[in-house]
Amino acid sequence: MDIEKVKEKLKTMLSEKRYNHSLGVMKCAKELARIYGENEEDAEFTGLIHDIAKEVPKEQIEEYIGSGKIKIDEIEKINMGLVHAKLGAYIAKAEFNVSEKIQNAIAYHTTGHKDMDTFAKIIYIADKIEENRTYEHVDELREMAKKDLDSAILFTLDFTIQKNIAKKALIHPDTVDLRNALLMKA
Ligand SMILES: [Fe+2]
Ligand SMILES: [Fe+2]
Repeated sequence: MDIEKVKEKLKTMLSEKRYNHSLGVMKCAKELARIYGENEEDAEFTGLIHDIAKEVPKEQIEEYIGSGKIKIDEIEKINMGLVHAKLGAYIAKAEFNVSEKIQNAIAYHTTGHKDMDTFAKIIYIADKIEENRTYEHVDELREMAKKDLDSAILFTLDFTIQKNIAKKALIHPDTVDLRNALLMKA
């Protein structure tokens, strides 16, 4: 796959800010793949396209759901922002015929999932720590991700869950399941 062509296509699908975020995730995912012995090219590509469905209009998302191309759950029905992960996996398969590994990494990048493999964990955390991200503790988290992916993900999950609790927002069960699985493993 010609990554430059993919970039050109993405530019037509994403705002400049989100396109730059995607480039950041691409770079970070590649670096982490090198550290953790995963396929660097796949990580780069997946990082680049992970948000491919982020700006698909609501009406179009509803068409994908209505035609049965993607299935969403109760929480996603209310929090439509989550759907771009599943839809992104679908579009990545349809457009670029990506492997199941890549589809899963895209599908899990927002809520997380207890069955995430190392590759999916890399995409998940790269999305949160890429160079354009600015929030408290992000530098600490960047260092942590290079040493221990699970600890970095746990840190992010705690942060995200606390934020959602403060907002009285729903928490997706996949997020809670992942946190439990990581705690039990540790
Ligand atoms: Fe995303
Ligand atoms: Fe993202």
